[in-house]
Amino acid sequence: MSPFPDFKNLKSNRDSYPSSDPETLVQSSKLDKIVVTGGKPLNGIIPISGAKNAALKHMCAALLSDEPIYFENAPNMLRDIQSQCDLLTYLGCQIRREKDLMAIDAGPVKSQTAPYDIVRKMRGSILVLGPLLARFGQAKVSLPGGCAIGTRPVDLHLNALEEMGAEIKLENGYINAKAPQGGLLGAKILFPKVSVGATENLLMAATLANGTTVLANAAKEPEIVDLGECLIKMGSKITGLGTETITIEGVKSLKGATHSILPDRIEAGTYIIAAGMTGGTLKLENARIEHLSAAMGLLSQAGIEVEQSGFDIIVHREIDRIQGIDIMTEPYPGFPTDLQAQFMAMLCLCQGAGMVTETIFENRFMHVPELCRMGADIIVQGNSAIVRGVESLKGAEVMATDLRASVALVLAGLVAEGETTINRIYHLERGYEDIVGKLSACGAAIKKV
Ligand code: UD1
Repeated sequence: MSPFPDFKNLKSNRDSYPSSDPETLVQSSKLDKIVVTGGKPLNGIIPISGAKNAALKHMCAALLSDEPIYFENAPNMLRDIQSQCDLLTYLGCQIRREKDLMAIDAGPVKSQTAPYDIVRKMRGSILVLGPLLARFGQAKVSLPGGCAIGTRPVDLHLNALEEMGAEIKLENGYINAKAPQGGLLGAKILFPKVSVGATENLLMAATLANGTTVLANAAKEPEIVDLGECLIKMGSKITGLGTETITIEGVKSLKGATHSILPDRIEAGTYIIAAGMTGGTLKLENARIEHLSAAMGLLSQAGIEVEQSGFDIIVHREIDRIQGIDIMTEPYPGFPTDLQAQFMAMLCLCQGAGMVTETIFENRFMHVPELCRMGADIIVQGNSAIVRGVESLKGAEVMATDLRASVALVLAGLVAEGETTINRIYHLERGYEDIVGKLSACGAAIKKV
């Protein structure tokens, strides 16, 4: 008794999924741990999943239409995707998932309230605000939670929606938003700061506004381009994707569509670093070097060779020891903040030293004390950290504090002497599909306990 036509016209990349039930792989409790015994090179093939940071937004875009939207290459086995499904289901969407396929029918949506209990789990849930306001003229969304990597306000989202005529009040921890009678109004919006989420929220809101909206100083991430392409398939009129000025001509309604979600560049980057740190050769299936261009030069300087081969990436370390390099995070196409912790883990064993400067988030060095427990030599000064390479890391009991910090500890564990136990691994399941399965298939001694 499915509300949708079946998935038979859709293409799955993931016949090898260990389970066809998306919920079974994301059920760790706060007590679950990962134990890694270091010292094994990684060799083999890792399939890269669809991008979490795209899928979360594409799912919100489904709210803009009363017809079903179909997604291929959806990273279904992630806790954040599960949270977004919970939120959309609460609003009234019907959702069907199988392997890496997902269908969302927002036709039956009745509620425009995103409650605290679901929104607090993940910042990506703020992305329902623009679509709800655009289609229904009103929305009540709890102020979001997410990784504890800084204060992460939503002022850019709210100010820009006000410029489109929305009336916004903050009451009891909720954002209460109302569009003018007849809907949001096209506007020229100049973001004072580049924001991925604000660009996406406004891009979606503007698709159903009256008139033309121009987003200036917009973010250029590949996930935003992919979202725009999905919206265009739904009938939106958008130009300038991937540049700092995006223009959206509002339309009356959007229709159903099928869209394949782009591969996760941060997951790919993480496994590239894993190969570089451990030695061995990895083939990353369905991954794009072009989305990691800022990291590529640095990886090459560090001694890691990465090449595109069709739709795959092949990676191996060219020298005995990683060379020290300096990195600085910046908005795309600059070096991604979501790979900063993993690069720092890699630098711990480098020849010489490297400096890591974080310019996007003010509190994104929480992995530093944990890496130091494993023997790393890192000194933080303001928003920079100096990492002096040591001869070896030693296995230890460590604590995962946020998504990317957690994976940095897994990477450190892969090269540390002896056993590393990583606590609070539910953070990892927010963003890495089956990381234990993918790494152990390539020779890592890693298990969940
Ligand atoms: C997204 C990604 C996250 C990534 C980040 C930067 C998702 C689900 N998350 O987060 O993984 O690390 O981009 O690439 O896609 N800011 C404000 N006011 C706002 C919004 C943002 O001051 O209204 C600040 C933030 O605190 C931060 C900076 O702007 O310092 C960039 O944040 P933003 O690009 O909005 O990140 P997210 O969309 O939250």
